Amino acid sequence: MRKNLLPCALSLAVAATASAVQPAYQPSEAILQAREEFRDKGFGIFIHWGIYSMLGSGEWVLNDPNIFHHEYKDLAGGFYPSKFDAAEWVSAIKKSGAKYLCITTRHHDGFSMFDTAHSDYDIIDATPFKRDIIKEIAEECKRQDITLHLYYSQLDWGRSDYNPIGRTGHEPDRDTSGNWDDYTAFMRNQLTELLTNYGEIGAIWYDGMWDRDELPGGLSPELWNLDEQYALIHSLQPSCLVGSNHHMAPFQGEDIQIFERDKPGENEAGLSGQDVSQLPLETCQTMNHSWGYRIRDNEYKSSNELIRYLVGTAGRDANLLLNIGPRPDGTFPPQAIERLDAIGEWMKDYAPTVQGVRGGVVAPHEWGVTTQKDNKLYVHIFETDDNALLIPYTGNKLKSAVEYKSRKPIKYTMTPQGPVINLPERDKNMADYVIELQYDKNLPYNK
Ligand code: GLC
Repeated sequence: MRKNLLPCALSLAVAATASAVQPAYQPSEAILQAREEFRDKGFGIFIHWGIYSMLGSGEWVLNDPNIFHHEYKDLAGGFYPSKFDAAEWVSAIKKSGAKYLCITTRHHDGFSMFDTAHSDYDIIDATPFKRDIIKEIAEECKRQDITLHLYYSQLDWGRSDYNPIGRTGHEPDRDTSGNWDDYTAFMRNQLTELLTNYGEIGAIWYDGMWDRDELPGGLSPELWNLDEQYALIHSLQPSCLVGSNHHMAPFQGEDIQIFERDKPGENEAGLSGQDVSQLPLETCQTMNHSWGYRIRDNEYKSSNELIRYLVGTAGRDANLLLNIGPRPDGTFPPQAIERLDAIGEWMKDYAPTVQGVRGGVVAPHEWGVTTQKDNKLYVHIFETDDNALLIPYTGNKLKSAVEYKSRKPIKYTMTPQGPVINLPERDKNMADYVIELQYDKNLPYNK
């Protein structure tokens, strides 16, 4: 029997409900405000952590054909991250200038990193550690004023009610005797726990719908019970945003649009051809090449590259969610700490040019990007050998130009295409050379 086709009754039900007209989602005032606050935050840290970290091969290790699911589950019995300290994590994140943290509460391996009453395959029941990691992080985030977002996988590689299975998580002996409705009920129950027991949550960050992209009707919001789940989230916490890493244009009920490993409008990693919506945008990206801890992946992007990535996302009107994969002992890899520190140092001077701003009225160019706030345009120059730069914008009247950090005036000449700025001598190795242009009135932004 082919396991990965929708059971007949289910596909008929999906077809029937798909055509039913759903009432359009009207974001509440609280959500509209939360969306703007989210845009203002600009920079967050992603954390992928689970029992897989013990194997040091990333969070997809369970898909390795040499690993049996029943053996993988036993890993939980050895999970004891003796050096885990939520205060240390959140302090390191805070120092980087990030304003929020998004952590995996349950990844595709199905293991819950929080205390759930709906499965024994969780941090409390299945590990000797028996500490609710999500609770400790939630409390520390609150103490240090960092907003907490929760990653939640819709895909599950182990449960029998994740049925039919999609294009991942195949294992010859996998039990698929369960019923999909039980699985959606399970997700609702867990989301209820997450939104009830951990204080204020800034966003639920879904991932995994793409797993069913090869099945007929496999991506329909009805199948995944999205309307009901999104409404549940918004009713339990009226300011909690909903985002999903499904690699498609947003569905109704979603509040942010997520891009994986690409800035909006780019598609180098191959997951981001979708249209860029009017919603607040977020790009998630790795520091090295991995999400979950991978012991042999030491190919980290340099601090300067990461700073440019952050500025590059801001210039495309998006937030950056930058990932760390903590080690099994509960510590961040030293390379990650080094980069958090370097970004933090840079942020001490330049945070106001990437946070609380919007993508600039001048589109990204080879040389860099622009961001803006009110009547100020921040010109971020990454690379150019030229000594003069045309800023192709003539909409408002330019009043002054200064080097952002030193406040030294910058000379420019007006042309019909816009001002041409004289670029002074500067250290070409710096991550980002920033010039502030001040206009007579606020710059346009139409979202
Ligand atoms: C992908 C991967 C997943 C990771 C996520 C982060 O969806 O499946 O492992 O958590 O991207 O963006």
